[in-house]
Amino acid sequence: MKRSTSPSDAGGFAFVLFGGTGDLAMRKILPALYAAHREGLLAPDGRIISVAQTALDARGYLQWVNEHVKPHLSGAPANDAAWRSFLERIAYVALDASQSEAFSSLRDTLGAQRGQRIFYLATGPSLFVPICRALASVGLAEGARIVLEKPLGYDLASSNAINDAVGEIFAEDQIYRIDHYLGKEAVQNLFALRFGNSLFEPLWRREWVESVQITVAEELGVESRGNFYDQTGALRDMVQNHLLQLLSIVAMEPPKSMDADAVRGEKLRVLRALKPLTGHEIRQNVVRGQYHAGATGGVAVPAYRAEPGVRHGSTTETFVALKAEVENWRWAGVPFFLRTGKRLADRVAEIVINFRAVPHSALGAMALRPGSNRLTIRLQPNESIRLSALAKEPGMGMNLRGVYLDLAFDQFFQQDRMEAYQRLLLDVIAGRLALFVRRDEQEAAWRWVAPIIEEWVRPDAAPKLYTAGTWGPAAASALLARHNTCWLEEEN
Ligand code: BG6
Repeated sequence: MKRSTSPSDAGGFAFVLFGGTGDLAMRKILPALYAAHREGLLAPDGRIISVAQTALDARGYLQWVNEHVKPHLSGAPANDAAWRSFLERIAYVALDASQSEAFSSLRDTLGAQRGQRIFYLATGPSLFVPICRALASVGLAEGARIVLEKPLGYDLASSNAINDAVGEIFAEDQIYRIDHYLGKEAVQNLFALRFGNSLFEPLWRREWVESVQITVAEELGVESRGNFYDQTGALRDMVQNHLLQLLSIVAMEPPKSMDADAVRGEKLRVLRALKPLTGHEIRQNVVRGQYHAGATGGVAVPAYRAEPGVRHGSTTETFVALKAEVENWRWAGVPFFLRTGKRLADRVAEIVINFRAVPHSALGAMALRPGSNRLTIRLQPNESIRLSALAKEPGMGMNLRGVYLDLAFDQFFQQDRMEAYQRLLLDVIAGRLALFVRRDEQEAAWRWVAPIIEEWVRPDAAPKLYTAGTWGPAAASALLARHNTCWLEEEN
């Protein structure tokens, strides 16, 4: 993917950050902008205008940034000179984003600022439409780019309602829907692995692939986000977006180019080819879980229902495992097992391609074992690719044993990896849309999860409990066992 990193490529800009005192601004967005600034990737006349309701003056806001953002910088600690010059880029506007009259102060602040205007909505989705309308009412929408954070809606209908309303003001090519997984170096590498090598592509199909696993496991619980999370759950928080995006990149056809619409068009075709799930299949092939008290890293942790902000007796899921199928010529009949959860045994995100065993073994039963030939793509932590195969054990006789070729990216490329948000923000500034979700993709993903959402309203669809610090409910293992396979960590 061509990606220029020169500041001239980015050009002057006004980056207006709604939710400027929020969690995301503090942990991700401002640290990413600082990293880009420190590396000289922002145009010298680019400005950041943070907007929030808190009554602060410019100095007060910079003090907030000093206190709250600095601890979240990644990589090298803040270099004093770079940090000071970064702060010089920042202005603050206190306004209530639900009051459109207040937006004239923002227009005045933007005044003579030259270059591309970017509005980043790091707010709850209920403010997306009011903010867009208010921007239009003061003449700030024209030619601007708008960045929408997830969750974009709660289901298909609410996401359509937001997209319709935003679409009345901004054209699709002005809208940048963030899925930060698309900005991860390792996810970028999936494109390189699949479409930059001739080695894997011939095998990347039903004739050779037996099953695919995609796991995004977290050790953390819901942290301080109990309130938000309890209204959301793992299906909406992770599956509808991050996991289905990963699936679509694994299963897509090679695009004609890395042009935004070529890539997004191919991903869309996969999402639209996902086999729709019916009630019976959901009961069979979708596992819903919630953690109860347990321990992670030897430290006792409370049950989900005891987390701050979570409703008493909540039935929100913190774990999902499911079987998906892509109904097309390449993938017919190949199960794609997706799994994600909080408070699991480890923090790991990986994609496992299990190849079929040899059709006939002249070398004994070992060569017929499923999973002997496998490609494991680890996205995090420690990005790596592992190719598992069988080899002869030294000595007399012909005893086969599993061996692997390992590529650890941090050893091969001894340089810093760019954080997902930094890459995505630089893309917004430069107007590159390939790593942002197009409306039709998002709609297709919501459409696919909709029957699961409906099914889970049933009183007997409460999540199965699992102990915090384990790999989720036993039903998730049983799901794979029914397909004669197991999750990677269950292998001996
Ligand atoms: C976010 C979810 O989109 O992704 C969080 O809202 C989750 O609940 C996070 O923890 C995981 O992202 P990462 O980059 O830490 O794997």
